[in-house]
Amino acid sequence: MPQCLIDDRKVEFTPGENLIEVAKKVGVEIPFFCYHPALTVVAQCRMCAVEVGMPGKDGTVQMMGKLQTACSTPPAEGMVVKTKTEKVLKNQKSVMEFLLINHPLDCPICDKSGECDLQDNSFRHGDSYMRYTEERRTYLDLDMGPVIKKNMNRCIHCTRCIRFGTEVAGIREMVAVQRGNNTEITTIDGRPLETDYAGNYADICPTGSLTLKNFRFRKRAWFLKKTPSVCEGCSRGCNIELHQDGNVVHRTLPRTNMEINKYWLCDEGRFNSDYVNDADRVVTPSLPGASGLAAVGWEQALGAARASLEGKALSVLVGSDLTQEEASNLKTFLGKQFPKASVFHYGTKGIKTAADDAAADKILKRKSRTSNLHGLEKLGYQGFTGLPAGTEAVLLFRGGRAELPDLSQARHVVGVGVFMKQDAAAFHAVLPGPSWAEKDGTIVNFEGREQKIRRSILPVGQSKNLSEILMLWANQGGKTGVA
Ligand code: SF4
Ligand code: SF4
Ligand code: FES
Repeated sequence: MPQCLIDDRKVEFTPGENLIEVAKKVGVEIPFFCYHPALTVVAQCRMCAVEVGMPGKDGTVQMMGKLQTACSTPPAEGMVVKTKTEKVLKNQKSVMEFLLINHPLDCPICDKSGECDLQDNSFRHGDSYMRYTEERRTYLDLDMGPVIKKNMNRCIHCTRCIRFGTEVAGIREMVAVQRGNNTEITTIDGRPLETDYAGNYADICPTGSLTLKNFRFRKRAWFLKKTPSVCEGCSRGCNIELHQDGNVVHRTLPRTNMEINKYWLCDEGRFNSDYVNDADRVVTPSLPGASGLAAVGWEQALGAARASLEGKALSVLVGSDLTQEEASNLKTFLGKQFPKASVFHYGTKGIKTAADDAAADKILKRKSRTSNLHGLEKLGYQGFTGLPAGTEAVLLFRGGRAELPDLSQARHVVGVGVFMKQDAAAFHAVLPGPSWAEKDGTIVNFEGREQKIRRSILPVGQSKNLSEILMLWANQGGKTGVA
C-alpha cells in the first residue's frame, strides 16, 4: 500500500481517499466545513488548508508555496503533510474570523448549540477576538415547509445543503442566489421543501441555519441520552440513534451504516417516534366504560380479555412490527392457548406477503411500512388476506406501527400492544405493550439482515413487555377452550 507522512506519522492510504480521511487514521484532525464524505468535493470554505510537500529526485522534500485544501487533495506516495504549522494555524484563524463576520452571537439561543461544527471549530481553531465593526448582513427567513426552520443569518455558504438536494435527494430545491456578500442560500422561488428526506438538511448543515422544526427548543443536545437502534418505519431497517430525556423520545437521528442507509433517514422514519409519548396512546389496561375505554387493573383486564374470547371462533393477527423474539414466543403461546385459531401477520395495506414488498423510491424507502415483515415470514407466519368466514373474535397484537386492518366483521376484539384511543374505542379489552423504543429485540430487513433494536426508554405508563403479558395470561387462565 502507498504511504504518506502526516505530521511526522506514516500512514497507508487507498487511492481515492482524501487527506482529511487519511489524517483521521493516525488521529490527526483537520477541521472542515464544506466537505462531506457523501457529497461532491467543492473546496469552498478553505478551513481544511494544510501544507503539502513532495520529495524531489534527490529525496529532499519541497513544500508547496501555498496551502492546499485537504478535502480536494489526494495523497501520493511519499507526500509530506503538515497540519499544525504556523501558516496553517494562521489560515484557520483567518477563515474563522471571515466566516464569523456576519454570524450573529446566537449560540445561547441556537438549537445547534452543543453539536455545531461552527461553534466547535471556532472554539478549537478560531481567535478570541475579531476586528469586524461594520453592521452584520441579515436575511429574511421565508418558510421552508413543515420540516425545516431556516435562519440564514447563521449560514456560512458551505453549499452542503444544495449538494445534498441534487446529489442525494434527487431534487434541485436549494440554490444560491445573488453573489458576493449578498449570496443567499434559499429554495427556488422561496417554495417549501418537497423532498421526503428534508430532515437530512438539518443534519448536514454545519451551523444552525437549518434546524428541525419539531425539535427546536425542546431539549438542549447535551441533556439527551443516546441509544443506538434501528428504524421501524419500513423494511429497510435504517440505523438510528434515539435521543431521550425524562423517558420521552425527543428525536431520531441517522447512524451511519454504509451498507444500509449510509448517512441518511427519510422523514417518515425520522418522525415516526412521535406516537410513543402521544397523550392519546392507551398506556393502562383498559376495558369499555360508560364513555369510551376506562383504565382498570391488569388482573381485571386480563380476565375480561380471556372471557370475551371464550368459546368463539378466533383469528389472531400479529403485527409485522413485533420483534423476532416476541413473534417466536407468541407462536409457542398461541400453539398452547389457542391451537385452533387462524393466525396471520399484518402490517401494510396492500402488502400481503414479503413478495409484495419493493422499493418505494430510489433512495431508501420500502413499501412495507413495518420493519419485520420478512422476519415474521421466516418464522412461518402467513400473510393476512381477510378474516376467515365465521370469525367471531380477533386477538390483535401490535407493536405500534402496523396499519390496522378492517375488523368490522369481528364482534369481539382484544388488542395487545400499542394502540391509540381512537383506534381501540370499540375493543373489548386493551392490554398495553411496549413500542419499539421501549424494548430490545431483533428485526430482519428486506435483504434478510438481522439487526438489533435497543430499548431507549422504560415502558410508558403501565405497559408491560409482551413476554410478561403472555405469561400473566397463561398463568391466570390456563387453557381457555376457545374454539
Ligand atoms: S444553510 Fe447550512 S448547509 Fe446550507 S450553505 Fe448554509 S451553512 Fe451550509
Ligand atoms: S427508509 Fe424506512 S427504515 Fe429508513 S428511515 Fe425511512 S422508514 Fe426508516
Ligand atoms: S472542507 Fe476543504 S475547503 Fe471546505
